[in-house]
Amino acid sequence: MTLTLDGHRVLIGIGGSVAAFKACQVVTDLRREGAEVKVAMTEAATRFVTPTLLRALSGNRVVSSIWDDDPAEVGHGMSHLNLASWCEVQVVVAASADLIARLALGLAGDPVTATAMACRAPLLVAPAMESAMWEHPATQGHVATLTARGGRIIGPVFGRLASGHESTGRMAEPDAIVAVVRELLVAGA
Ligand SMILES: Cc1cc2nc3c(=O)[nH]c(=O)nc-3n(C[C@H](O)[C@H](O)[C@H](O)COP(=O)(O)O)c2cc1C
Repeated sequence: MTLTLDGHRVLIGIGGSVAAFKACQVVTDLRREGAEVKVAMTEAATRFVTPTLLRALSGNRVVSSIWDDDPAEVGHGMSHLNLASWCEVQVVVAASADLIARLALGLAGDPVTATAMACRAPLLVAPAMESAMWEHPATQGHVATLTARGGRIIGPVFGRLASGHESTGRMAEPDAIVAVVRELLVAGA
């Protein structure tokens, strides 16, 4: 049986949002479709889900610090550059307001943003935050910057948020994120 994403290389970057746990489902679903998945996480993301879990789900070493050095890796030892040149599409899930701002500003102080800065592959961002943070002009400005640069934003959607309120800010569901990944890979094929 040929899987839809057979052999495609997808990088998942995870931010420090409550929705980080949904990144696990995104990784699982992508692998189920045959994709090869590697994961980069911010330090804040590791407070919500562990690199150990993402390592187990992705089947690959997880980069959670730009100072991580993989003893098995030959070459220059700069993991963010290896991830950037490896992936066909980069997906930032559980993208916090802070992470979106850093991506828009071109900061590169963590594994997710450093890889994004070094990467020429299409960028898909799935924001997740309280509605006030999402609607804040700063966030909206950063999202507009990313979109103008060719980045694709999925969600957030209306629904129950971590605070218990119902509003817009909930991360798009994993199956919707995987559908856009599929689209980006097919479009780029
Ligand atoms: C329990 C908890 C939940 C949080 N959830 C979110 C969230 O859903 N979205 C968000 O933008 N920030 C959230 N934050 C704040 C971020 O974790 C904080 O801004 C962090 O610096 C973001 O890290 P990152 O930029 O590496 O993703 C939360 C903080 C805590 C303590």
